[in-house]
Amino acid sequence: MDRKEFFSKALISGSLLFLAPALLNSCSKSSDPQPTDPSGGTNTGGTTTIDLTSNDFAALKTVGGFAYSGNIIIIRTGTSAYVAMSSVCTHQSCTVAYSSTDDKIKCPCHGSIYSISGTVLQGPAPNSLKTYTVKIDGTNLKIS
Ligand code: FES
Repeated sequence: MDRKEFFSKALISGSLLFLAPALLNSCSKSSDPQPTDPSGGTNTGGTTTIDLTSNDFAALKTVGGFAYSGNIIIIRTGTSAYVAMSSVCTHQSCTVAYSSTDDKIKCPCHGSIYSISGTVLQGPAPNSLKTYTVKIDGTNLKIS
């Protein structure tokens, strides 16, 4: 190996070592958004209680409004009707949001769309959102 060949190989090897961590990191999931965990209702015995008089849930005073409690999205679908389901997209765990304009639940990360019952309408999400039972108890919602 002559001097020119040695320096050429050393330069290529050094460049690969320098770039390897950046290339590996760009492929990891850690750059994808993660679900948020905003404050919200209380959870006792597997039942989450939402106080509808709380400012945390002011959006639920309006039909078409939605709010989060932990990893649950609660949507007001009618005067006395609410639905609750997991807010974690089944594709790569981004937080979904409700769109009242077309009555769909959408993931901002890769475009998955779910129905108001949590069923996948458009992928890449592979599975439906887990749904919960919602009961109205005075000014509270009991989600289980
Ligand atoms: S994380 Fe929701 S579509 Fe990818």
